[in-house]
Amino acid sequence: MARDPDNTLRWATLMVLAALGTAVTEATNPGIVVRITQKGLDYACQQGVAVLQKELEKITIPSFSGSFKIKYLGKGDYSFYSLVIREVQLPSSQIRLLPNEGLAFSVTNANVKISGKWKARKNFIKTSGNFDLSVEGISISAGLKLSCDPASGHSTVTCSSCRNHIDSVHLHVSGSQLGWLIQLFHNKIESSLQNAMNNKICEVVTSSVSSKLEPFFQTLPVTASIDNVAGIDYSLLAPPIATTETLDGQLKGEFFSLAHRSPPPFAPPALAFPADHDHMVYLGISDYFFNTAGLVYQQAGVLNLTLKDDMIPKESKIRLTTKFFGTLIPQVAKMFPNMNMEILIRASSPPYLTVSPAGLAFTPALEAQAFAVLPNSSLAPLFLLGMVSCSRSANVSVEVGAMSDRLVGELDLDKLLLELKHSDIGPFSIELLQSIMNYVVPSIVLPKVNEKLQKGFPLPMPSRVQLYNLVLQPYQEFLLFGADVHYR
Ligand SMILES: *[C@@H]1O[C@H](CO)[C@@H](O)[C@H](O)[C@H]1NC(C)=O
Ligand SMILES: *[C@@H]1O[C@H](CO)[C@@H](O)[C@H](O)[C@H]1NC(C)=O
Ligand SMILES: *[C@@H]1O[C@H](CO)[C@@H](O)[C@H](O)[C@H]1NC(C)=O
Repeated sequence: MARDPDNTLRWATLMVLAALGTAVTEATNPGIVVRITQKGLDYACQQGVAVLQKELEKITIPSFSGSFKIKYLGKGDYSFYSLVIREVQLPSSQIRLLPNEGLAFSVTNANVKISGKWKARKNFIKTSGNFDLSVEGISISAGLKLSCDPASGHSTVTCSSCRNHIDSVHLHVSGSQLGWLIQLFHNKIESSLQNAMNNKICEVVTSSVSSKLEPFFQTLPVTASIDNVAGIDYSLLAPPIATTETLDGQLKGEFFSLAHRSPPPFAPPALAFPADHDHMVYLGISDYFFNTAGLVYQQAGVLNLTLKDDMIPKESKIRLTTKFFGTLIPQVAKMFPNMNMEILIRASSPPYLTVSPAGLAFTPALEAQAFAVLPNSSLAPLFLLGMVSCSRSANVSVEVGAMSDRLVGELDLDKLLLELKHSDIGPFSIELLQSIMNYVVPSIVLPKVNEKLQKGFPLPMPSRVQLYNLVLQPYQEFLLFGADVHYR
């Protein structure tokens, strides 16, 4: 078939579109990355083994019996019963990362001590005694598959494979008379006990994963409620990724409006994680996360504060009255004599936080609308100011609490620059207002904002996990938070 130039073009267009489509899909970066290092997995392994040990101790081993036949003596029966696990030792265990697959959990050199009773009967002779059994050189290897439930965004864990092996079983029989006889069959007895144990071990491992580990994973919050305006989406975007050194979970990490959720007009950046692995867990919190917060709250119209005269300290010369403002802008006092004033301060566009290795900076665009309060309490607009801060900084820290671990913030503002956006009282020089706003905003508005920020936002942590050894470091477009964990 001859090449049709039209078709070629169509194909080329399709290829470009397909490539774009892939690029767009791949560009869905997470707002937050949770990284677990080998140190974290080692700690998890320690905790997991403690749980597994308890579960193995609960194994019930069935009684078993058999018969024997010996030259000159004839036939007899024996049974082993009341088998109890006395001790389980799991001296060495490990969780390893299987790149692109998941995790491998292994136990080597484990041993189990069992004791019980035996009895034997031959014709009219009955005899019984106790026995001890040690199961030695047990090894277990299990694959853990991590995935994510696309409907709920929860992470899930399942035991994808399990193998176990027992090196040897040693039986020691005590008791009288026929005890020597039992010893004759120890091979047979040992192998049936070995089989009984063999079948149980992987059963216990598999059920411990689904009954203990999986529920723990389910305690990781997928959405966190904050207040009546916003929630945080912490759902997993994809199954956790195992690399040679870390296990990474990509979380959506965005604030959303409870009233009407819509995708933000900006996308999360790619986070260039440093190769730190001194701590057990790391959270990379992108500026996207913070900026979705600013967007949601600003769009909800709640980033505002009304300043009234009674909020200004008594000893201050500055008063929110037309009389005081009249000393700077005479027409205020002339048009609205002897009235109180109110100033509504609000964020006129979503506040934007920039994270860089040099630190955090945020850019609020504020507006101040001044009113005179008329005798019938209605408000007469006076003027509208735009305010930008020429240098501003922000601190974010993590507060570790008994109830939840929270990200808390604190803002600082330097000098504000004013701009007159609109006046209802004719032209005037805003120079005169500069010092008033530079007193009022940092001393009255800022503490109220910081009070809210100190309440903070909950971090995506599973229950009963306590953080310590915290570090927090800004990188390009994200904050890296590292910690060790302690499971309570
Ligand atoms: C100011 O914020 C409150 C909530 O804190 C909201 O109910 C109110 O409508 C806002 N007012 C303005 C004028 O935006
Ligand atoms: C309050 O008084 C002003 C001026 O006296 C008037 O224009 C306004 O309509 C009044 N508002 C109300 C709610 O009565
Ligand atoms: C941030 O923290 C540093 C050190 O604790 C302090 O000097 C600075 O004033 C803080 N800045 C803000 C915005 O709170």
